[in-house]
Amino acid sequence: MIAILLLLFAALAAADPCPPITPDPALRPNFTIQAPAFAWNVDKVRGVTLGGWLVLEPWITPSLFASKPDWVVDEWTYAAYWRTQPCPAAELAAHWKSFYTAADFQRCGGAWDVTDGSIAGVGLNTVRIPIGYWSLVPLTSGEPYLPGAFEYLKLAVTWAAASNLKVIVDLYGAPGSQNGRDSSGRRGEAEFYSNWTNAERATAAVVALATEFAKPAYGGAVATIGLLHDPRPAAAWQLEWLRGYYNATYYAVRNVSAVTLLLGSAGPLGAWEGFMRPPAYQGVGISEPILPMLDPATLQYGATDALRYICGRNDTLARSSRNLWTVVEMSAASTDCARWLRGRGVGAAYDNASAVRYPASCADRSGSPGGFGAAYTATLGAGFETQTYVYEQAASGWTFCCWNTEAAADWSFALGLVYGWIPVPITAKPHGKPCNFSSFIEAGGSRAAVPGAGALAALAAAAAALLAL
Ligand SMILES: *[C@@H]1O[C@H](CO)[C@@H](O)[C@H](O)[C@H]1NC(C)=O
Ligand SMILES: *[C@@H]1O[C@H](CO)[C@@H](O)[C@H](O)[C@H]1NC(C)=O
Ligand SMILES: *[C@@H]1O[C@H](CO)[C@@H](O)[C@H](O)[C@H]1NC(C)=O
Ligand SMILES: *[C@@H]1O[C@H](CO)[C@@H](O)[C@H](O)[C@H]1NC(C)=O
Ligand SMILES: *[C@@H]1O[C@H](CO)[C@@H](O)[C@H](O)[C@H]1NC(C)=O
Ligand SMILES: *[C@@H]1O[C@H](CO)[C@@H](O)[C@H](O)[C@H]1NC(C)=O
Ligand SMILES: *[C@@H]1O[C@H](CO)[C@@H](O)[C@H](O)[C@H]1NC(C)=O
Repeated sequence: MIAILLLLFAALAAADPCPPITPDPALRPNFTIQAPAFAWNVDKVRGVTLGGWLVLEPWITPSLFASKPDWVVDEWTYAAYWRTQPCPAAELAAHWKSFYTAADFQRCGGAWDVTDGSIAGVGLNTVRIPIGYWSLVPLTSGEPYLPGAFEYLKLAVTWAAASNLKVIVDLYGAPGSQNGRDSSGRRGEAEFYSNWTNAERATAAVVALATEFAKPAYGGAVATIGLLHDPRPAAAWQLEWLRGYYNATYYAVRNVSAVTLLLGSAGPLGAWEGFMRPPAYQGVGISEPILPMLDPATLQYGATDALRYICGRNDTLARSSRNLWTVVEMSAASTDCARWLRGRGVGAAYDNASAVRYPASCADRSGSPGGFGAAYTATLGAGFETQTYVYEQAASGWTFCCWNTEAAADWSFALGLVYGWIPVPITAKPHGKPCNFSSFIEAGGSRAAVPGAGALAALAAAAAALLAL
């Protein structure tokens, strides 16, 4: 009977016309774990995000979306579309196999070489890798996602360990979506905050990451796990809810791992003062996105004011760093001109007279770097140098989105190196001393949104009541 079943399975396996979606075991590097490249939480993080790889974002890999119907706008709809096709995971697995490979992490078989054009070679020390809950915990009915990315994440962590790079694994997608953006897997409403089951599943996803990467085989390469990327609570109670999720997940992870945990900030940084601090909590940091091109007000700044704005963030970052270990999420891009940056089919604000007061042309502001003139290249360069200077001086460093993009050169670290708006070495300041201005533009210092302890206690009680159900 068993033999017949085995034969049946073998026949079924042989009959499967779809290519395998798991990575080839031969891609695992044969490495000896090296001494840590830098002292985590002490030296500065210089990182790049491997966006659009294990969580799809149409603006990073438009080729995966352009050939699909207009309603395919995020990983959820992408998977729903493919679920109706003969080999649902074939294209996605081909993308996982090719969009990032070991050679992006390090070339030249162990020799550091800035000319090799790899992440480790150019002097970066960290990769930030987005992952979605659907790759980590079982799906529930109605969720079309195509799992399998976790195997590629495990492989990438071995590449990092072999290249002396640290990894921040970041939960970009939580059940229900924490921000309604395509980078969360599902564009539309932010329903994460509507049901504590969503938080429990997100916690389970983070615990799955912490459990896996605590294994000695990874050599401690995963230095940090992000508990939730870019949460956008829309009301005070949702912010409390988010804090409850962070607290609960902290304790769940500490059961299995001492890994540093990174909170995704929401609202003004000052609102997090006093939250999850030592000695009660150990190894907690906060990630602050500073992406002025996404806000119509800061998007409109001229080249000099854009730099004065970055310098004006210095003191809130320094204050935050005294509270929690703080790392900034940044880009060199100075506009939102990248096609589909705000979502598939959604236009930029930069050139839209209905969205901003002083629209300007998006021509040669993103896409191919061939058309970027000297002045724009200098703007990107001065922006990169000023940001990295401020974020290393006032905070614990930065992660840059992204290492690679298909068609948005101003968001690509690799192209910035090739076309010269990112200097070699990456810490050089060819545009002169950053923040050499008589005054800065102060922003982000508001502390108005600090919720009271009473609200926090109410949340804990509400969460406990829900958990008890
Ligand atoms: C690692 O070693 C194994 C066994 O010698 C070999 O099959 C595999 O191709 C090697 N992998 C790499 C990435 O070199
Ligand atoms: C929360 O989600 C779970 C699982 O989907 C469901 O069973 C439950 O009814 C939901 N609770 C509320 C209050 O909507
Ligand atoms: C955090 O979680 C712990 C353990 O579940 C709980 O005892 C504590 O009250 C929570 N703290 C807050 C501020 O919610
Ligand atoms: C930690 O582990 C213990 C023992 O397995 C378990 O009872 C407890 O619920 C866990 N705590 C959290 C917050 O997951
Ligand atoms: C321009 O901005 C307006 C207001 O935000 C928006 O309704 C419209 O769709 C935008 N146009 C394009 C082409 O994106
Ligand atoms: C930024 O903050 C750091 C740390 O507090 C301080 O030493 C430095 O002078 C500040 N730089 C600027 C440009 O304000
Ligand atoms: C700072 O800016 C002033 C005025 O533009 C300039 O004269 C000076 O050389 C600059 N200092 C440095 C160190 O770049």
